[in-house]
Parts: sequence; C-alpha cells; structure tokens
Amino acid sequence: MGKNNFSVKWDIEPNCNLKCRHCMMADIKYEQALSVKENKVIARKLIDAGADRIVFQSMEPLMYVEIYKLISYCASRGTLTGLITNGTLLSESLINKLLDARLGYMIISLEGISPKTNDYIRGEGSFNKVLKNIHILQDILDKTDRLLYMILEYNLTSVNREEVNLMFDFFDELPFDVISIGEIVNFGRATENKDIKLRRDNILNTYIDIYSNYYKKKRNYILNTKGLTPYEIVYLNTFYNTDIPFYVVSCSVRNGNALSVSSDGVARVCTILNESKLCGSMELCDLKRTEIFDMKKEYYKVRNEIDLMSSTENRENCIECRHYIECTFCPAADEETHIEARKNCNSARKRIAKNLDDILESKEGVISFSKGVYLEELDNNLYVCRLYKDNNITKTMISIEYKPLLLEMYNDKEYIPIDKYNSKEYIALLKDLIMLDCIIYGNQ
Ligand SMILES: C[S@@+](CC[C@H](N)C(=O)[O-])C[C@H]1O[C@@H](n2cnc3c(N)ncnc32)[C@H](O)[C@@H]1O
Ligand code: SF4
Ligand code: SF4
Repeated sequence: MGKNNFSVKWDIEPNCNLKCRHCMMADIKYEQALSVKENKVIARKLIDAGADRIVFQSMEPLMYVEIYKLISYCASRGTLTGLITNGTLLSESLINKLLDARLGYMIISLEGISPKTNDYIRGEGSFNKVLKNIHILQDILDKTDRLLYMILEYNLTSVNREEVNLMFDFFDELPFDVISIGEIVNFGRATENKDIKLRRDNILNTYIDIYSNYYKKKRNYILNTKGLTPYEIVYLNTFYNTDIPFYVVSCSVRNGNALSVSSDGVARVCTILNESKLCGSMELCDLKRTEIFDMKKEYYKVRNEIDLMSSTENRENCIECRHYIECTFCPAADEETHIEARKNCNSARKRIAKNLDDILESKEGVISFSKGVYLEELDNNLYVCRLYKDNNITKTMISIEYKPLLLEMYNDKEYIPIDKYNSKEYIALLKDLIMLDCIIYGNQ
C-alpha cells in the first residue's frame, strides 16, 4: 500500500437500530463486537502499520456505546478519525464526548429532506430524530470553539427526486461543510427494493437541476456529486459553467490505500467485495492474533486477482479515453451498473465533442479558462493544471507543438471569441482543453 500509509474502514459494531430499504450492508453477518480494551490493541496495531485515517462506519457505530474512548485513543496517536452515522442515536452528552475525544469528522446520512421521503427509506420517525440531533450539534458548535468537519451523505432516489429543487434552501440552514450526493448502489437490501433507485437515464438531468439550484446563490458548503461519471462532470462544467470537483472513479483496493476491519478484528481488503464472493478470500489477517502486521504481500495478491477480473470487462468504448487505466468502477457493483455508467460517460464525451463542433461551425460564443486553471513549466515541458475547491489538482502535459498557442491563449485572459484563432492546432488544442475540464463555453 502506497507509502505505507493507508486508511481504514472499521465496521466496529455488528448491529443497527434501523432497517433501511437500501442498506448495502444488510446481509453481512458480523461477529460479536470486541471490548474497548481489545479494540484499542487493534487500533494500536493498525496505527503502527501506517493507518493515518480511521473511519468507523458499520453497522451503526453509535450503537457501540463507548466508541468515543476508541476515538480518543486514535486521536492521541495522531490518527484522523471519522464516523458515519444514521444520526438517530446522537444526544447532547454523546456529542460532547465525541468532541472531547477529538473526532475529526462526522458523516450523517439522510435520504430526503422531509419525513415522507427520508422515512420511506430509513423508517418512520427517523427524519425528525436526526434533524433534532443535528440542531443540538449545531447549538453546541455555535456555543463553543470546538470544531467538527461535518458531511451530509445523501442518495438520490426515485422517491426524493421531486425535492431536488428545494433541497439547497433546506441544507442552507444546517451546519454541514460538504453535501455529498450519490446514488443507490444495487447491493444488499437495495436489490430487494429496486423501485427506489433513480433510473440512470434520469441522472444527468437530475444533476443539471441540482447544479442550477446550487449555483442560484452563494452557499456555505461544498457540493460533492459522486454519482456522476468523469465526462458527465466535464460536460456540466464546460457548458453549464459549474465547478464540480472532477475525479475519475477509482476503486480503493486497486489504489492500494484502504482496508476494512470487521467487528471481530479481522482485516480484509474490502468488506463489500468479500461479501460479493466474486474473488477468493479477502482476508488479510486476524488482528486479534497477528502481532506483526505486514500485509503488503497478501494485499497485492488480492489486487492482482481484481485486476484480472476487471480486465474481462467489456470496455471497448473507453479505449480512446485518457483515463482508461485509472478508471475502475467498484468490482462488486453489478454488471448492469458498470455498463450503464460507462455508456453515460461515453455519451457525455461524444456530446462534448459534438457541441464543440457545432460551436466551431457557428463561430459564435466565447471561451475562457475555467476557474482554478494555471500553467506550469517543468523541464521545458508545459503542464495544464486545475485546482478544484476540494483541493484536488489535475495536471496534464501538453504536447510541445501546442505550447506557444496555449501560452498565447492563456495570456489572452478572460473571454476569447471562439473564432479568434483559426488553425488546426487551435482546434486540436481546444478539444484537448475541453476534455481536460479546463475550458468554459458561454454565449457572452
Ligand atoms: C452502510 S451505512 C453505515 C453507517 C450508518 N449506519 C449510516 O446509515 O450512515 C454507510 C452509508 O452507506 C450508505 N448506503 C447504504 N446502502 C447503500 C446503497 N445501497 N447505495 C448507496 N449508499 C448506501 C448509507 O446511506 C450511509 O450513508
Ligand atoms: S444504512 Fe446504516 S442505518 Fe440504515 S440499516 Fe444500513 S447500517 Fe443501518
Ligand atoms: S474510461 Fe470510460 S468510463 Fe472511465 S472516464 Fe474514460 S470514458 Fe469514462
């Protein structure tokens, strides 16, 4: 794994107080939870091995009543801790304990902005409980100088689609730093409740609505839309002048920078992949027993198996894409999800090219460099870079033949009439810059 640093998804607690219709973890049979004392030993081993981020996630981590003690231990060893919770079990006293323990960030899940839509998925009464607890938390944070990075995890569903135009006014009143909007993954209990999944052909339009609403006024939180594929993001950023953080979907197992630990202390490459039974054993070691914790070899063995599995995926439409190698969808998601996502991504890629051809032909409109784009020269090579507001940076070397033109365009500042330049190089470079999410098009 990377430079020995890795993050841990710790399923500390085998039980949950809710029974959500979409729960991907619902069928996983976890063993009995360990004591705080036993778990501190496990945390020590993980941290000694290089864990610099530990997130307590399943089932419902706040059912592990003394979780703040474990968080406090990890924080005292300099490890960043996070918690993903359904939010129903928070209370004033627990919030204070979590803050005192120096919890780094808290992710709270909702599946709607009203009892009707949220509770359809998460169960009756859960919306009001969570909202009440978020307000208690907000009050505590307002009255003290303590900090907690807060993320809202929200899935688009067929049930909450109608609320998209109202949701940002709702989120404006809440204390979140990030609103993360995703989609239901077909796994676990979601496979028995397929009606809740928003149809894929509805997704891009839904995100267009989401973005036009988000940008209506200045918001105090970042919007993260993990349900979009890379070229859907580029498409929206280029032609709707949005500022969506760009990322290429990349499985953490293949990146080699994450592992899962279950309630009985067994470390696995990934809990979900283990549950999917697609590969052989995902088990790396039993942290209750293993004293010396070096699992690189085992990890790479499993990763090779996943690479082999991914290589059989039909990706002929992706062959020309510059992200071909890094772009790896979750191997545990069903084939239909992969096919749909790649289809949408490729269709957005084609739509970008087609729109650009139409614009070039009409010779109307202006282009400008997107916010956060800068050029960097290194060893006589020119790189076009873009910094996103989530601090992610993309950096691509531009072919040497385009260097003078790119410098000229960049120095041209602000808005450039689309027909200002007229050469083969210009068209080729423009196509490249648009695909790299570095250009905005407008009618001004
Ligand atoms: C498995 S839950 C565990 C933590 C906690 N019980 C909660 O609900 O936040 C972690 C996150 O996964 C999300 N999740 C569960 N099943 C999902 C699915 N089928 N598709 C997408 N997200 C899902 C939940 O909404 C939640 O945000
Ligand atoms: S999504 Fe979270 S709260 Fe809902 S059933 Fe699954 S683990 Fe429990
Ligand atoms: S490899 Fe395919 S799915 Fe991935 S970014 Fe490229 S076109 Fe999109």
